[in-house]
Amino acid sequence: MNLYVTADANWGIGHNDNLLIQIPRSQKMFLEETKGKVLVMGRKALATLPQGKPLASRTNIVLSTNHKLQVKGATVVHTLEELFEELKQYPDEDVYVVGGESIYNQLLPYCKVAHVVKMDHAYAANKFFPDLDKDEEWKLTADSDEYTYFDIAYEFLRYERTTFADS
Ligand SMILES: NC(=O)c1ccc[n+]([C@@H]2O[C@H](COP(=O)([O-])OP(=O)(O)OC[C@H]3O[C@@H](n4cnc5c(N)ncnc54)[C@H](OP(=O)(O)O)[C@@H]3O)[C@@H](O)[C@H]2O)c1
Repeated sequence: MNLYVTADANWGIGHNDNLLIQIPRSQKMFLEETKGKVLVMGRKALATLPQGKPLASRTNIVLSTNHKLQVKGATVVHTLEELFEELKQYPDEDVYVVGGESIYNQLLPYCKVAHVVKMDHAYAANKFFPDLDKDEEWKLTADSDEYTYFDIAYEFLRYERTTFADS
């Protein structure tokens, strides 16, 4: 399982229910990376997508405890157990966890690769992603050139898990 996240200098990822910023090049990379893949997201992360709708050309899976929730273009699952049952039909490497904070926290232990868009700017965030640089289970294995968007510098980083509970 992979994850994809955009984080600021302090690993901030959001403020309340909102994203910190949307960087066009980063959005393009995200769409290219995840085309034809399986996205796993929380109900609140779904609301941050364009028009609050699932993304086309991908399998969208939304976590919510609300059994009445129906989302056109997405499968709604209500527990992690239900999620893992649903994911059995897809290759593990095709699955991308795409937020938000609570979903990253719950699924990080199952992820092997983390695609991180890392910004140098520090926002007034109140939603965070774990600092992978301080986590011995994760290693930075690739980084891109530095890009800029107005006065923000950012890079595309790849982290890989070095240890697994079952290995
Ligand atoms: N920077 C990034 O890359 C990025 C990406 C995505 C999101 N974000 C940010 O992350 C923030 C949202 O994070 P968040 O933690 O507040 O919300 P979230 O993780 O997106 O969604 C939380 C919701 O997911 C459902 N849920 C969570 N765990 C569940 C479980 N085990 N079983 C069933 N349902 C479960 C619940 O929905 P119900 O309440 O319906 O039960 C819960 O309220 C926003 O600021 C957003 O902008 C950032």
